[in-house]
Amino acid sequence: MPENILVCTAWPYANGDLHIGHLAGAYLPPDIFARYHRLKGNNVLMVSGSDSHGTPITIRADAEGISPRELFERYHLRFLETFQQIGVSYDLFTHTDTENHYRVAQDIFTACLNNGYLYRKTEQQFFSETEGRFLPDRYIEGTCPHCGYDGARGDQCDNCKKLLEPTDLINPRSKTDGSTPVLRETEHFYLDLPKLSDQILAYLSENKEHWRPQVINFSLQYVKDGLKGRPITRDIDWGIPIPLEGYPEKRLYVWFEAVIGYFSASIEWARNQGRPEQWKDWWYDPAAKTYYFIGKDNIPFHTVIWPAELIATGRRLYEDDPAKQLNLPYDVPANEYLNMEGKKLSTSRNWAIWAPDLLERYDPDPIRFYLTVIAPETRDTDFTFEDFIRRNNDELVAAWGNLVNRVLGFAYKRFDGKVPPIGPAGLDEADRQILAEVEAGFETVGDLLAAVRLKAALEEVMRLTRAANVYLDGKAPWHQIKEDPAAAGTSIYVALRVIDNLKILFAPFLPFTCQKLHEYLGYDGQLFGRQYTQTFTETERTHVALCYDHSQAVGRWEPGRLPEGQPLRKPAPLFKKLEPELAEQEIARLLEA
Ligand code: MF3
Ligand code: ZN
Repeated sequence: MPENILVCTAWPYANGDLHIGHLAGAYLPPDIFARYHRLKGNNVLMVSGSDSHGTPITIRADAEGISPRELFERYHLRFLETFQQIGVSYDLFTHTDTENHYRVAQDIFTACLNNGYLYRKTEQQFFSETEGRFLPDRYIEGTCPHCGYDGARGDQCDNCKKLLEPTDLINPRSKTDGSTPVLRETEHFYLDLPKLSDQILAYLSENKEHWRPQVINFSLQYVKDGLKGRPITRDIDWGIPIPLEGYPEKRLYVWFEAVIGYFSASIEWARNQGRPEQWKDWWYDPAAKTYYFIGKDNIPFHTVIWPAELIATGRRLYEDDPAKQLNLPYDVPANEYLNMEGKKLSTSRNWAIWAPDLLERYDPDPIRFYLTVIAPETRDTDFTFEDFIRRNNDELVAAWGNLVNRVLGFAYKRFDGKVPPIGPAGLDEADRQILAEVEAGFETVGDLLAAVRLKAALEEVMRLTRAANVYLDGKAPWHQIKEDPAAAGTSIYVALRVIDNLKILFAPFLPFTCQKLHEYLGYDGQLFGRQYTQTFTETERTHVALCYDHSQAVGRWEPGRLPEGQPLRKPAPLFKKLEPELAEQEIARLLEA
């Protein structure tokens, strides 16, 4: 029975390009995971979109003197480009400024209100007298009350990750002009987290053995420390209006509505398919598994706030059956941080490698490979160009690429461009053993991928690749062919079968080169679906989204049956060796920028 797997990724703020930290932490892991499940034949829905609201967008737009919409649309289009180039295969990558998202976010707000989980409260908030307006979230900076870090923002401390209210900050100052804000009364809606606390704790205490320890521990502690009501509206003019009379100057808080994007994007996708109810397979089927791939700074929003919103929404949203409850996250495989050349990535200090820039100079699969090898799954890790080049050369080129080259090149030249037949002596022990060992990979690698242990999964595929190289060196068909051409044919036949299977085991990680290899092996068709962009028109607004058509995909997570005699296509190397000098050039570029 195919499983329903929902793959969610954090919604990137569309206020700047994506960098390698985003790719390694939140975008490549879910793509690898989604591709695996598609090969398995499961029903995968992978959704996300650009986060287009909130002060991260308005502050940047103000600085550039353009409107928030102009700003986010620019970066949204660049995200679509990056995801296509590096192959992050969203079924739908939309954004939060769609009419659909507005409606769903407002419906959830209304459901939470009607179910008694929102309350109104008048509180003091910072107001800028110089600008004559309230200064929410990132418009305020100051010292973190928890760790003493001085650059803490009004919504969160980047140093200790704790969520903050602007009024928590010591020595608050305006981000725009440095002035000291004053306190003024304003009324807001609050999510009643204390009232939801027991239900959240029950959720976090049930069957979480498959969660990463740092994620479940952080989340449990967060709830046990005591939850306070959180304001979910803001005095700001960019964002989603409050669906009630009397609040024309307020908007929903970006974090309240952005997480709702997972749900609204699923609905948008279903409608685009012409099957408007299909989102329920992932949201109302209790057996569906929903995964949220995020960086560690987003943990509390996904393990506490989003479940709280879903619980508060209650039953019967867009559904008549009163027994049905929206699914809570099944797993939140949050990643730690990726550093670069020993230092924390920083957009403001321009210490980052931007994805569009990197993709101009390197092929997507080596980048995907290296960012998986160093994925920050359990602790912070470090990207260095020296290591990137070394791993590309020693592992991708020397182990996997070379295996493929040697075998395909030899078969193509010496066996008339066809898969040679098994010789009259049949298969020997070594032949059978390598075939069995690599076939067992569908189980071992598959289990690791399903458990979101992507790094370990890739290491296992590399181990099988090295075993295949050992097999080939042992047989040495380039010598065999002189004495016993039929025996050489058997070895090449076995090696091709092994490569054909490794092709599938590598495919979630290296989709572009595995597709090429698939063709060199003489097959037709695409292992995966096709990515494309499409423009959608709602009533008033138009938006461009990234889509994915899976209907023609032929890849299957199972041992192949490469036929004897199958014509091969002329092979070419899958990977390029990178010169070690490149590392210095790259670092010089970074320092210049
Ligand atoms: N925009 C946020 C960030 O870049 C992430 C939002 S994840 C979401 O940190 F689920 F809330 F959308
Ligand atoms: Zn702090």
